[in-house]
Amino acid sequence: PAILILWALIGYGLGSIPFGMLVARAMGLGNLRQIGSGNIGATNVLRTGSKPAAALTLLLDGGKGAAAVLLARALAGEDAAQLAGLAAFIGHCFPVWLKFRGGKGVATFIGLMLALAWPVGLATCATWLVTAFITRTSSFSALLAAALSTIWMVFLGQGTLIVLGAALTVLIFWTHRANIARLRAGTEPKIGQK
Ligand code: G3P
Repeated sequence: PAILILWALIGYGLGSIPFGMLVARAMGLGNLRQIGSGNIGATNVLRTGSKPAAALTLLLDGGKGAAAVLLARALAGEDAAQLAGLAAFIGHCFPVWLKFRGGKGVATFIGLMLALAWPVGLATCATWLVTAFITRTSSFSALLAAALSTIWMVFLGQGTLIVLGAALTVLIFWTHRANIARLRAGTEPKIGQK
């Protein structure tokens, strides 16, 4: 119905704000497209050398996913919340403003998960952190965290999220296809490396 379409549009609009690009530009760090992987996410912002800018990007990209979910839930209920979260993720990865060439969705994924079901969000975040601590590789940590998120959903009694979780996981593998090729070739840079 119309209300769901409205929340999909609001979620997409929020998600499509390319905070990484805006933060990098505002802090005089240059054009992210010409740095590192060319991606607009926090991992690539870190390649500018600015930890505060990367942290801010992480917070804002995660925050927009959480905001979409929380707004939709407060005003239109749980179905709208899931849809708005999915739409925010799609907005981040395929923003109309950047000719649909957006980010890879990891921060937004964790943000929307924290808002939808915080135990799943925390477990997913922890999976990323532990994997990143061990492997020092952002993309690999994201792929593992996404894949395991559906398992966390089952264990943490959030079965209603599994379809959404599976869809987001497939999309994350898709947005990381260049990273997957580099991982297989052994050429994926470690976190903070240019
Ligand atoms: O979240 C994005 C990260 O997994 C990979 O980023 O810039 O190394 O492609 P990047």
